[in-house]
Amino acid sequence: MSDKEKLISTAAAAAQKAYAPYSRFRVGAAVLADDGTIYTGVNVENRSYGLTICAERNAIAHAVAMGMKSIKAVAIYSPDSEDPLPPCGACRQVITEFSAPDAVVICCGRDKNAVEIPVRELYPMDSLHNLKKN
Ligand code: THU
Repeated sequence: MSDKEKLISTAAAAAQKAYAPYSRFRVGAAVLADDGTIYTGVNVENRSYGLTICAERNAIAHAVAMGMKSIKAVAIYSPDSEDPLPPCGACRQVITEFSAPDAVVICCGRDKNAVEIPVRELYPMDSLHNLKKN
């Protein structure tokens, strides 16, 4: 199994744990860190709908909490989407916060039909990318 297939399978396995009782749209994400570690996340909805956390942002928060410094790749998978699922706008911004220069996002639908796109194409004109970190 290639690294890419492994990342997709990990996201697909994670999606089974999604908490999506309102939309019934389950999403799993797997982040590949620069040191080779994979971190997962799922969408976590809330009865106050706006509090919902997307799978990718959840995976990134998990990764940061475990010490990840930089993202090489993120796979996003939904068993409830026919088409490859790209990250929402908010998640694109959060992915760029931690992305290595050549990081890629792998968007997958239920048949693991994947579209791979570099983060810099998914989120051009990266907002506030020069803001100084203290
Ligand atoms: N969702 C994600 O987790 N990631 C995406 O990239 C798109 C949307 C979730 C949020 C919500 O729980 C459900 O999918 C329907 O929008």
